[in-house]
Amino acid sequence: AIPKTLAQSDIASRTPPYQHLIKNLKSVRRVLGTRRQLTVAEKILYSHLHNIEESLLSNTQNGNQIRGNATLKLKPDRVAMQDASAQMALLQFMSCGLPSTAVPTSIHCDHMIVGERGADVDLPASITGNKEVFDFLESAAKKYGIEFWPPGAGIIHQTVLENYAVPGLMMLGTDSHTPNAGGLGAIAIGVGGADAVDAMVDAPWELKAPRILGVKLEGQLSGWTAPKDVIMKLAGLLTVRGGTGFIIEYFGPGVETISCTGMATICNMGAEVGATTSIFPYTKSMREYLKSTHRSRVARHADGICDPNAVSHLLSADPGAEYDEVITIDLSTLEPHINGPFTPDLSTPLSQFKDAVKVNEWPESFGAGLIGSCTNSSYQDMTRAEHLVKQASAAGLKPKADFFITPGSEQIRATLAAGETLETFSSAGGTVLANACGPCIGQWKRTDGVSKGETNAIFSSYNRNFKGRNDGNLSTMNFLASPEIVTAMSYAGSTTFNPLTDTLPTPSGTPFQFSPPSGIDLPKGGFAQGNPEFAPTPGVPDSSHPVIISPTSDRLAVLEPFAPFPTGELQGLRVLYKVKGQCTTDTISAAGPWLKYKGHLPNISANTLIGAVNAETGETNVAYDHFDSGEPPKSAIPQLAEKWKGQGKEWMVVAESNYGEGSAREHAALQPRYLGGRVIVAKSFARIHETNLKKQGIVPLVFENEGDYEEIDAGDVVSTVGLYDMLKNGGKGDVSLRVDKRGGGEKIIKIRHTISPDQAGFILAGSALNLMAKKLG
Ligand code: F3S
Repeated sequence: AIPKTLAQSDIASRTPPYQHLIKNLKSVRRVLGTRRQLTVAEKILYSHLHNIEESLLSNTQNGNQIRGNATLKLKPDRVAMQDASAQMALLQFMSCGLPSTAVPTSIHCDHMIVGERGADVDLPASITGNKEVFDFLESAAKKYGIEFWPPGAGIIHQTVLENYAVPGLMMLGTDSHTPNAGGLGAIAIGVGGADAVDAMVDAPWELKAPRILGVKLEGQLSGWTAPKDVIMKLAGLLTVRGGTGFIIEYFGPGVETISCTGMATICNMGAEVGATTSIFPYTKSMREYLKSTHRSRVARHADGICDPNAVSHLLSADPGAEYDEVITIDLSTLEPHINGPFTPDLSTPLSQFKDAVKVNEWPESFGAGLIGSCTNSSYQDMTRAEHLVKQASAAGLKPKADFFITPGSEQIRATLAAGETLETFSSAGGTVLANACGPCIGQWKRTDGVSKGETNAIFSSYNRNFKGRNDGNLSTMNFLASPEIVTAMSYAGSTTFNPLTDTLPTPSGTPFQFSPPSGIDLPKGGFAQGNPEFAPTPGVPDSSHPVIISPTSDRLAVLEPFAPFPTGELQGLRVLYKVKGQCTTDTISAAGPWLKYKGHLPNISANTLIGAVNAETGETNVAYDHFDSGEPPKSAIPQLAEKWKGQGKEWMVVAESNYGEGSAREHAALQPRYLGGRVIVAKSFARIHETNLKKQGIVPLVFENEGDYEEIDAGDVVSTVGLYDMLKNGGKGDVSLRVDKRGGGEKIIKIRHTISPDQAGFILAGSALNLMAKKLG
């Protein structure tokens, strides 16, 4: 759908302002001293600072310890939003009253499309079922000059990679896998809608300067091992928390050997270890990918600022740049990995997986193999999978597991169709789903008879495998692997099959063994155009265009501003729930069928914390009203919160480590706030979620002593001590909690926080949006 040659205006909007960035980089060097060697992530990030000197010297000793300390105020070049999160982001943007977005912005309709029987049937049904939402998004896009990619055009991260990601760009995306664009040398950060609104209204966006984790790649991939295995191995080493507060920057000789799309896969899944983002330096494969996606002129601009000897060189690290930590991975000896179930950091080398299945008593058969998605639907991925399917078909084999293929975009779908790759998959019995998220985000209508609660396994080339993520069944074990491994294993339908060593029986009686897959990085002659119906609307504002929201809608509701913080300490906060163990954004605000209500805060709030385990009883989504006389009545968590909201009683939640891990879903902050939540106290928070809480006026507090988690329970009543003064002092000052135990007695709990002066302002105003609306006047 994209013209072979981009229009001049598109080239301008899709090329970072290189001359401005280089000028800024020179200023950065002046502030830091010319001997300071910078990594590529630092160069791109710092050259996007709003006020270079103020940011780099804030909270640092003369700019000496920027990483982990300085508060960066950044001006991103671009914003991208997916359809589920765009609803709330737009509702927030609209309340600011501006005529257009300050930076180029795009909307991608991908999350609301159900995968079931194939693109031809599923897409029209999903468009009809979500018409109201798509009409709202398109109408708002036209009014405010946002490029609108309609349902079927593709998954946000693939479309961004093909059209907007460029070396040196800094962008925000309202989806946690936005770092996918780091495969094209961009700093791309997943945020909540309120953060995206900062960039859309031209307000500086704040970020604690990340530390830099260097991953040195040596050697070269070969055989069955794919780029996916780099991040699968890294996830095992780092765990889901290990990247928190870091940008992962790849370097070393192995970098030049990986395809651009392979690098995007690696960066995409940096989200699984909690990293702020991931990035590769500008490489030859990036240049080739830009050309193949009809952006030769953009590539020439990048080449033009690419002299590694120039002090202004933006797109690679300075020689001798230092990393806070370094992990080395030898690509030549790296094995394929399988990660899961239920967490992406449970990483098992393929050669040990058979034993792991036996030891852990995981199911020995699996029902579905799913390849593609935003993570793994590149031309290289799909042609490697095609090579395996052709081998198996020639031997007379069909997949034993149901086999689903999700192309990431119309461009990749059309290219694969032109080369008959999709035909190869379909003829083998595969189902080609729409160019959309589908089963990756719980939009999967399984038709293989697996019932809810039934233990079973699936294999996917996706990026995330939390419980219930794909089919809403908490007992479905999703094992993540490269598309090649998923494809080959689908022919066995067995979790103990090792395609590198094992054979399959064939109709002819001759045992069949796969040869290692081979594929093609990029299509000869570039990517196909695709269906012009999937082209985006132009990003030109039309103030006369009405925004369509029905006042009787149960899917869209105009946002009402939250009340400001009281003028004093919080008193009488009831502890609604004490969460045990992992609490992801899926736990706090489930996806799947709930995606329907993303634009209607009161309705979606009925799913708040429904996946959370009660620390006292071990039950899921069962809360007790200890303030009701007699036996505490049981109810679902959102029902109790709603009841207390009706009584005018504010509440808080107690949680363990990495609260809010997983995604940028701001509903996980908006919903508790809407229902009367004021404070979350946890052992630690995931970065994006912690920011989202502050932006919506909820105070995230961290136990100074993790053991104090044991000292506070559901039904206790809490008052803050020092919180109000701390907020008034821009985040400075000690805070503690006074806990009146439900059984009698009192405890004082010391807490920490990461509230910056700006964030203190958000909380006092009731939300970041309240503050912004006041400033914009
Ligand atoms: Fe879509 Fe996110 Fe999956 S963008 S394909 S749901 S990882």
